[in-house]
Amino acid sequence: MRKDRCAVDSNTQKDTSAHDNYKRRINYLRLSITDRCNLRCFYCMPEQGVKQLRHKEILRYEELLRLIRIFTGIGINKIRITGGEPLVRKGVVDFIKDVSQIEGVNDLSLTTNGMLLEKMARDLFDAGVKRINVSLDSLKKEKYYDITRSGSLSQVLAGLKKAQEVGFSPIKVNAVVIRGVNDDEVIDFAKMTEEHPFSIRFIEYMQIGEKSKWDKKLFVSSSEIKSRIEEYSKLELVDKTDKSSPSTDYKIPGAKGTLGFISPLSEHFCMLCNRLRLTADGKLRNCLFSENEIDLKEALRLNDDDEAVSQIIRAAICAKPEGYEKIEKDSSKKRSMHTIGG
Ligand code: 5AD
Ligand code: SF4
Repeated sequence: MRKDRCAVDSNTQKDTSAHDNYKRRINYLRLSITDRCNLRCFYCMPEQGVKQLRHKEILRYEELLRLIRIFTGIGINKIRITGGEPLVRKGVVDFIKDVSQIEGVNDLSLTTNGMLLEKMARDLFDAGVKRINVSLDSLKKEKYYDITRSGSLSQVLAGLKKAQEVGFSPIKVNAVVIRGVNDDEVIDFAKMTEEHPFSIRFIEYMQIGEKSKWDKKLFVSSSEIKSRIEEYSKLELVDKTDKSSPSTDYKIPGAKGTLGFISPLSEHFCMLCNRLRLTADGKLRNCLFSENEIDLKEALRLNDDDEAVSQIIRAAICAKPEGYEKIEKDSSKKRSMHTIGG
């Protein structure tokens, strides 16, 4: 490992921004606050018999807040709350309020499946989340139910409407495109942007989560999705406001919203990666595709000294892999997506 490239000196602490060994500035933490979910999307979770973490294995809110303060000391200024489904965890609104008040948290966002959004949008907005991503893989009622094995499309659409009313901006809608499942709907999703100011993002189906369900034949590349949409309308490239965002965005001329393509498999965006992930049981992952986990829960519970925890995090940042190509092909088999949070 080329330690010399890691820009943060843990002794002087003059530079609060953390860089990894490949000069990437790491400023974004995706925080899973629960492994539980009120849906069972077939590519993410088994239908039955999901092993749930026990209560004491999950980081308590006070522990998460302490950790976030430590992370901000290292230059993390962007936090996304994920799950499982984060809105099923009791007390999430108060937790978010506390997170939004931590100095150094400049950007607080949330990823949700939208099932509880109609009920909670106002409180979430008032608590300090301004940006949300809603996972929505079908605009057809029955299909949505089949994919999620229980979800209600109308409930999610009501959640999106409410989110718009209370002022969330942007509202991103994430659809994982799977051949033979929902690839016939990409034009319907595109049409949605003509009426609504949503950023709809198509995500390539990754071999992660419920692995047994993944098959090369089910994979649809971003370029294929884009070509299909171009049969319906011309697309204009939209300038990237967030350089580290993995999506390439387009717009149907005159549309209210945008269309983005996230291509974890067909393109290589590892060099832009600025993120870390924390699982609900307090394991830090420096790459989605790597099995390497650092136990921050234990570090927190054993150390009253924040600096000791901070050094462990800095070391994990330094050790961030260059990219998933360098990681063994079938890694990440131990964890399902619902414990990592996407
Ligand atoms: N491939 C692509 N995206 C996935 N997600 C979950 N599993 C996969 C997968 N195998 C997405 C969810 C959600 C986000 C948290 O991660 O659909 O949008
Ligand atoms: Fe729940 Fe999201 Fe997994 Fe679906 S993809 S089961 S909504 S965690």
